[in-house]
Amino acid sequence: MSRFIDHQHDVIVVGAGGAGLRATLGMSAQGLKTACITKVFPTRSHTVAAQGGISAALNNMGDGDDWRYHFYDTVKGSDWLGDQDAIAYMCSHAKEAVLELEHFGVPFSRTEEGKIYQRQFGGHTLQQGKEPAKRACAAADRTGHAILHTLYQQCLKHQSEFFIEYFVLDLLMEHGRCIGVIAWCLEDGTLHRFQAHIVVLATGGYGRIYFSCTSAHICTGDGNAMMLRAGLPLQDMEFVQFHPTGIYGSGCLITEGARGEGGYLANSKGERFMQRYAPHAKDLASRDVTSRAIATEIIQGRGVGPHKDHVHLHLEHLDPAIIKERLPGIAETARIFAGIDVTKDPIPVLPTVHYNMGGIPTNIHGEVIRNATGAVVPGLMAIGEAACVSVHGANRLGTNSLLDLIVFGRAAALRAKDLIQPNTSHRPLNEDRGAESIKRLERLRCANGTITTGQLRISMQKIMQHHCAVFRTHDLLADGVRNLEELKQTLKGIQITDRSMIWNTDLLEALELQNLMLQAQATIQSALFRTESRGAHAREDYPKRDDQPWLYHTLYWQAQGQQAHFEKRPVRFATLNDDLDIMAPQERVY
Ligand code: FUM
Repeated sequence: MSRFIDHQHDVIVVGAGGAGLRATLGMSAQGLKTACITKVFPTRSHTVAAQGGISAALNNMGDGDDWRYHFYDTVKGSDWLGDQDAIAYMCSHAKEAVLELEHFGVPFSRTEEGKIYQRQFGGHTLQQGKEPAKRACAAADRTGHAILHTLYQQCLKHQSEFFIEYFVLDLLMEHGRCIGVIAWCLEDGTLHRFQAHIVVLATGGYGRIYFSCTSAHICTGDGNAMMLRAGLPLQDMEFVQFHPTGIYGSGCLITEGARGEGGYLANSKGERFMQRYAPHAKDLASRDVTSRAIATEIIQGRGVGPHKDHVHLHLEHLDPAIIKERLPGIAETARIFAGIDVTKDPIPVLPTVHYNMGGIPTNIHGEVIRNATGAVVPGLMAIGEAACVSVHGANRLGTNSLLDLIVFGRAAALRAKDLIQPNTSHRPLNEDRGAESIKRLERLRCANGTITTGQLRISMQKIMQHHCAVFRTHDLLADGVRNLEELKQTLKGIQITDRSMIWNTDLLEALELQNLMLQAQATIQSALFRTESRGAHAREDYPKRDDQPWLYHTLYWQAQGQQAHFEKRPVRFATLNDDLDIMAPQERVY
């Protein structure tokens, strides 16, 4: 008898966040036999934590917004590393994507006239930086929650199949084509092989390689690690976004929407320091600029608190009715995690890891790219934070993440319809297919060492936090690379105490740690490789952006037991839109 339970589908989507659910819904609605595999219940996916909004130039606030301004802001925000065909695709499809969400039932906040409410966010402007734009479509400060629940309901309506609390171990590859995935059912310990004509990785980011992050414990970038184990590349892994306002101590997110509603940052002198760093945009500069400004204030001794190691976000001057209506979630979070009443006291905040701009390289249809020429991997797609399409380049603008999930989740479904016919047959699977993954699982399940997963994970997170944070140098990064390599050797001494296959969270977290370690290495090695400063990647030893050698994406491979290998992939300066000029690189100031 086979040790696997085998399944056959047209499409398998791995991950049930905003991107995964939008793709699942689109595939199912088109009649493709689609299953979504997820390690947590869908509405517990990390999209639920997205707060401030989803961007679209709806012009609901009468400010004259236009998707071309959104395109301009996103290219500038990306520090010209974003692919302009992908950015144009995303911004020009934003309006229909948001209106579609509204029709699906997302309970957006409303203007007096009953239109979707829109607020300001950092780096979003009108007429190429002349004035701030109100572009973030918000459901109070719980926009991700509203979207995720609505999409899950829509998937159920379209009879999408769900495999919930299944952990996908690896891709199944045959002659360079992806033919499915292998997964472990956490509930009953069974092993499953899912054959599919298309596998869509929607596995989210890997913020948990860092000690302080806004990402949930589940954000371990499992799909990215599957790519590396399959001998496929990751792209732009050096670009890690620090959100300027994580709560000091806990890392919980305080939405940029708080500044969009009029909040401001101040140092120990009570000074609104952002005026010095971004004279025009001030507190609503892009996130990389604001995070570096806070870090600089702290380094120069103007931080607040007994250790002068954070700054204040002030909301006390805002009308409490506005806070109650538009920022109820962060008021609650600040009460629970900082013990303060935001109508009376400032929130202690610190730049905190929030988003991974890098990930699985794809084209605008979500198809995974396997090398610098842009050749695709048949049968494999990636979307959402797991992917690097690349609309965010070196720095993402707030609210462009939710948009990316929805637009490219939909794009993947549209492409799948062109590529496959519903219910086409599959070739029989060789009995050994997936055996390597099971060997890896078994080695770990029986591991008899002395160091716990928790101890190893925290060591990795501290290395990353110290050696690969907001400001980087060659020496700091090179030390970090060495420390991580040593830690990787220590991983062989891991101790697993639970030998069962049923809800073995000890084993699950060890598998997630293996995934995280691969991405920590990819991130720090890529950061060492790129000898310039661009967007969120700030090298103190190379403080300038250097387009001649570096206006390229970084492709990174890490084959088992070999040195990391890099290639440069050209940034795409082209759009499919006749009525849009591409944007040549310029100096980036706010
Ligand atoms: O600040 C926020 O609400 C986060 C939004 C985002 O990352 O897009």
